[in-house]
Amino acid sequence: MRSFPIQYHEPLFRPPSEANSLILQVTLGCSWNRCTFCEMYTSKSFRPRPFAEIDAEIKAVARRYRGIRKVFLADGNALVLSNRRLLPILASIRRELPDVERISSYAMPADVLRKSDDELRELVEAGLTLIYVGVESGNDEVLRRVQKGQTQAESIEALQRAGRVGLRRSVMILNGLGGTTLLEQHAIDSAHVLNETQPEFAATLVVSFPLGDQRFRASFGPDWRLPDQRQLFEEVALLLANCQLERTEFRSNHASNYLVLKGTLNRDRNRLLAQVRRAIEAPDQVPLRPEWARGL
Ligand SMILES: C[S@@+](CC[C@H](N)C(=O)[O-])C[C@H]1O[C@@H](n2cnc3c(N)ncnc32)[C@H](O)[C@@H]1O
Ligand code: SF4
Repeated sequence: MRSFPIQYHEPLFRPPSEANSLILQVTLGCSWNRCTFCEMYTSKSFRPRPFAEIDAEIKAVARRYRGIRKVFLADGNALVLSNRRLLPILASIRRELPDVERISSYAMPADVLRKSDDELRELVEAGLTLIYVGVESGNDEVLRRVQKGQTQAESIEALQRAGRVGLRRSVMILNGLGGTTLLEQHAIDSAHVLNETQPEFAATLVVSFPLGDQRFRASFGPDWRLPDQRQLFEEVALLLANCQLERTEFRSNHASNYLVLKGTLNRDRNRLLAQVRRAIEAPDQVPLRPEWARGL
């Protein structure tokens, strides 16, 4: 049996909704790599990959497979690349893989803000359709304590600008990131970012520390307490209760979540809130992902 024509530089991550996508590593690692909760790319030094290597991978996949519809540009924040680097990659994808309908990548708010509206529009015209943005929290104190390197105002501006040029936005919020002390502000301010930006998609992930929480604890401060399962659900309920959304697909289907929620906000808010309240009041009567099955 012939092997897959791309050899990935591990570790490799992608959003749950990119499970059926071709993953192309256009960068290795994360250009920021300093968020104290995130160990995803700490084993890698950030670098863009040469166009010739990426182009060769696209052509090798095109020779072997037909009907690829979705491409995800990895690693941690492919949008950090200049348009000079991104545009030839997008052009090669469109030329070699004519069935592709969606090209997406992770992006930090700063990556969006570094580009002008014209540059963002060029990317949309070249085929970039969706960005996954790690807002994590709308609360500036939480963001500072976890060294996310962005503020609420920057997240809002980046998401609004991306939306205006026609990029679809999928926002990630980290359930539990404010600990027990900042739980309420974290939920309310995160809802505020969603309300101000009306993203097409929003997802909550539960903050987890597979390699231990020493680094996180040291930067968050001595009042760090990981919310227990009930408190995590209360935080999600508060977030949902504060959402004023016109049409946002909401998911908590990432493997880190205990409770899987799916719906359109605000249309399905009452149903989702009822599901969360039931998980708070009768956790043994709702299907919760067991601890051993959770992961990043
Ligand atoms: C691979 S990162 C890329 C996102 C992009 N670099 C950004 O910051 O906007 C994807 C997401 O994984 C989540 N993540 C990272 N570390 C995590 C942790 N320890 N527990 C749960 N989720 C985590 C964060 O929500 C992060 O935005
Ligand atoms: S959350 Fe995103 S920006 Fe922060 S270190 Fe991880 S990959 Fe980089």
